[in-house]
Amino acid sequence: MTAPPPVRNEPLAPHAPLPAYYGDESQRARWVRRIFDRTATDYDRIEWLMAFGSGGWYRRRALARAGLAPGMDVLDVGTGTGLTALAAIAIVGDARRVIGVDPSRGMLAANKAPPESPRLVAGAEQLPVAAASVDFVSMGFALRHVADIDAVFAEYLRVLRPGGRLCLLEITRPERRLHALLLRLYLRGVVPWLARLAGRAAEMPELMRYYWDTIEACVPPATVLARLRRAGFIDVDRYVEGGMFSEYRARKPA
Ligand SMILES: C[S@@+](CC[C@H](N)C(=O)[O-])C[C@H]1O[C@@H](n2cnc3c(N)ncnc32)[C@H](O)[C@@H]1O
Repeated sequence: MTAPPPVRNEPLAPHAPLPAYYGDESQRARWVRRIFDRTATDYDRIEWLMAFGSGGWYRRRALARAGLAPGMDVLDVGTGTGLTALAAIAIVGDARRVIGVDPSRGMLAANKAPPESPRLVAGAEQLPVAAASVDFVSMGFALRHVADIDAVFAEYLRVLRPGGRLCLLEITRPERRLHALLLRLYLRGVVPWLARLAGRAAEMPELMRYYWDTIEACVPPATVLARLRRAGFIDVDRYVEGGMFSEYRARKPA
């Protein structure tokens, strides 16, 4: 009996192309890189206003909940200006152990992690890091921006050491309709207005509108959890804070 042909996975983007911003899939990565390049110098200020200054505290707690501990080697993907990397450094205790990766040179130029913390220009789909070289992979609020969730999860499994842990932080659409509506009003209405007032980059209000639109269009949490399991991760779960801060956690088999 001949073996059935291997199942070929179609790439799974976190959301379909959004025509209000870019025409089709081939333009996604370039458009995303460009908007982050152009808004990088405003990012921390707007993030601080948007989260009422709680972002660093929240990121530290989430990483600790996911099992990050002193002395671990960390890869922070979609590191941007370094907010999640800084939270990781505070726990790990040594900036040299936390590597930041991001495709936007603008965001990396605005990165506030100490210079000893290595920074690499790359997307999550192809990480310039050796197999089985880190204990922990973190990704803060960047999963919505990748091109192919399956390719990204395969890379995370590759770079983690056996038993290593993954923590993906994302904003997800609240399940209660009223909460989703309030969040939409805040992120789609108030935050772009705040960005116009407090930001210097002309594209900042657009980035903030895009922020909500990607949350609304994103595949549901159940899909993210299923794709993590299918990639080969174990102990896959999702912890939710405040009805919208999702922490996807998983482990590579030992
Ligand atoms: C909202 S910022 C988050 C930055 C930081 N992680 C934080 O916690 O604030 C999203 C980041 O994802 C990056 N990004 C976009 N596409 C990416 C990709 N394909 N792979 C990895 N990072 C990507 C952007 O350049 C940007 O720096």
